Amino acid sequence: MENLKAVILAAGEGTRMKSKMPKVLHEVLNKTMIDYVIDTAKSCGAEEVCVVVGHKADEVKAAIEKDGVSFALQSQQKGTGHAVMMVGDFIEEDKDILILYGDTPLIQGETLEKLVERHRNDNFGATVISATVENPEGYGRIVRNNNGDFLKIVEHKDASSEERLIKEINTGIYIFKGGDLKASLAKLDNHNVQGEYYLTDCLELILKDGGKVGAVIAEDDKEFFGVNSRVQLAEATKIMKNRINNGHMVNGVTLVDPENTYIGADVKIGMDTVILPGCVLEGNTVIGEDCKIGPNSRMTDMVIGSGVTFQSSTGLESEIGNNTTVGPFAYIRPNCKIGSNVKVGDFVEVKNSTVGNGTKIPHLAYIGDTDAGEKVNFGCGSIMVNYDGQKKHRTIVEDNVFVGCNVNLVAPVTVKAGAYIAAGSTITRDVPEDVLAVARARQQVIEGWKKKKMEKES
Ligand code: UD1
Ligand code: CA
Repeated sequence: MENLKAVILAAGEGTRMKSKMPKVLHEVLNKTMIDYVIDTAKSCGAEEVCVVVGHKADEVKAAIEKDGVSFALQSQQKGTGHAVMMVGDFIEEDKDILILYGDTPLIQGETLEKLVERHRNDNFGATVISATVENPEGYGRIVRNNNGDFLKIVEHKDASSEERLIKEINTGIYIFKGGDLKASLAKLDNHNVQGEYYLTDCLELILKDGGKVGAVIAEDDKEFFGVNSRVQLAEATKIMKNRINNGHMVNGVTLVDPENTYIGADVKIGMDTVILPGCVLEGNTVIGEDCKIGPNSRMTDMVIGSGVTFQSSTGLESEIGNNTTVGPFAYIRPNCKIGSNVKVGDFVEVKNSTVGNGTKIPHLAYIGDTDAGEKVNFGCGSIMVNYDGQKKHRTIVEDNVFVGCNVNLVAPVTVKAGAYIAAGSTITRDVPEDVLAVARARQQVIEGWKKKKMEKES
C-alpha cells in the first residue's frame, strides 16, 4: 500500500506486569509483543514504522532495531495524544498514518488493510476501529448521534453515567490523514480528569474542522486484546497459539494435540508433516514435508529437510537434511550442518559441526567442532576432545571412517578416509587413509594370579 506509515505507541510502563522488563518486550510464543505489531504494520504495507518509546527506552530500542523502524522518545507519559506529538515530522501531510499499540500483538494485517481501504474509499480524515464488548469498563466509549454517525470518544474516567452504558468501545487502533492528524494534535489540550493529552480527542477536533470521521466495528474483537498483566499475556498466547496452529492444520500439517503444541508465528511447516504432542517450535524454523516431529521436542531457528524424524530432542540454529533421524534425547547445538540419511541417535550431542550424508552416530557421543564426512560410523562413546582448557580445536573425520566404541579423538586431529580406529583408542596424532589405528594399552594376561592372591590372604 502506498503512502502509508505507522506509529506504534510503546512508551508506557506497564506496571501491572510487575516486571523489570518493559511490557512490550514480553513474549508471546517466543516473539516479543512489539515485534508482532511491527511485522503486522509492515505486512499491510506501511513503508516506515516509528515506535514511540519512553519507559526503559534504550532497552526497547536495542531489542527491536531493524530496517524501516525509527524511534521517537516520549520522556514523560502525558497521554496517547502527547505520545503521537513526539513523532514530529514523521507525520507527512499527504500520507496516511496508522496508529497501533505495542501491547496488542493479536492485530492482523488483513484487518488493517480493510481499515485503510475503508478510510480511503470514504475519504475520512480519521477512522477508528471500534468493538462491541460485554464489559466496556475502562475503555473509551464511542458516542454516536441519533443517525448513528460518530460524534466523539469519551474516556471511561470522563464519561457520564449514561455514556458508561455504551458498549461500543475504542480499540485504540486508528488511521489518520497526516494533515488532519497534525492539525488536530496542534489543538489538543489536557482538560480532562486525567490531565492527559488524549489522542481520542483528535477525532472530535477533525469533525469540528469539517472533516469526516468513521468508526468501523471490528469483526473479531480478540484482535484488539491488549496485554496489561501476565494473566492477559497467557490469554493472548492462547489466542495466538490457536490461530497459528489452525493455520498449519489448514495447510496440511497434522497436529496430534494442538492444545499442547507451541509453534512460533514465523515457523514454516511442509505438507503431511506430523507434529506430536509437547513440541515447541520457535524462531525462523523451517520444516519440510513428511516429517515426524516429537513428542516433546524443541527447535529454535532450525532448517529441516523432508522425511525427517525428530524424536524427543532439542535442536538449535542448525540444518538437517532429508530422511535423517534424530533422537530420542539428542541435543543439536548451534551451527551444525547435518546431511541427509544421517542417524543422530540417543544421548548424542552435536555442536558447531558438519556431518556428511549417510553418517551414523547412533548413541552416547559428543561431536563438537568437527567436520565429519560421508558414511562415517561413530561407535558408542565417541568423544571429540575439542577443548584443551583454553582453546577449542577442530577434528576432521573423512569419508568412510569407522570410529570404534569409546574412542577419544583429541583435536586438532585428522582421520583420513577409510581408516579404522580401534575401540578404546585415544588418538592424538593424524591417522592416514585406510589403516587401523590402535592407541590403547595392550591386554596382558597374568597366569596364576588368583591362586597367589588367595594364598596371601589365607
Ligand atoms: C486508550 C484509549 C481508550 C481505548 C484504550 C484501548 C486514549 C486517551 N484512550 O486508553 O479510548 O479504549 O486505549 O486499549 O487514548 N502510551 C504512550 N504514552 C503515553 C500514554 C500511553 O506511549 O503517554 C501508550 C501505552 O504504552 C500503550 C498505549 O499507548 O501502549 C495505550 O495507553 P493506555 O494508557 O493503556 O491507554 P488507555 O488509558 O487504556
Ligand atoms: Ca490500555
